[in-house]
Amino acid sequence: MAGTNSESSNARQMDANSELEESPDENEIIVGALLGIAQMDSEAALAYETAAESISNAEVRTSLEAFAGDHRRHVEELGRVIQDLGGQAVLAAPPPDGSVFYMLVSAAAPMGDRAVLLTLMGSEQFTTATYSTALELVSEEEALSLLQRNLGDEQRHLSWLERATAREIDGEEG
Ligand SMILES: [Fe+2]
Repeated sequence: MAGTNSESSNARQMDANSELEESPDENEIIVGALLGIAQMDSEAALAYETAAESISNAEVRTSLEAFAGDHRRHVEELGRVIQDLGGQAVLAAPPPDGSVFYMLVSAAAPMGDRAVLLTLMGSEQFTTATYSTALELVSEEEALSLLQRNLGDEQRHLSWLERATAREIDGEEG
């Protein structure tokens, strides 16, 4: 009798464990979040590419091109995880018409390098905060690992922009 109860208990435990594996609903939520983040990364990449074209300082331009590359890589890698989770990665990088990041950089470009860097810094504050929030919400292992790596890139971009704008401000006012 005790053995039967134990077996029944084990069976219930196994059922509970299999239910804990990603349910379709949880997958849909994660895929939706990753698609939104991929869209954001796609817009950030375009903003950096646009900024790099307008920037006069060659050293700064090289860094901005590298950051654009990081954001393009984020889109690709998010697309792979989205596919692994049963989503459609083709939706991850729609045309970024109407992107706020892009419009801010375009508007700032005639005002010079410092204005461009300041708008990029605002965009990076947004992307960094978005990745931080997503890390609180997503528990799926592959997605979580990618979000953590990408957050590291975002923090590096933001830190570079903070230093670059501080240097520019010192240079202009000093
Ligand atoms: Fe970034």
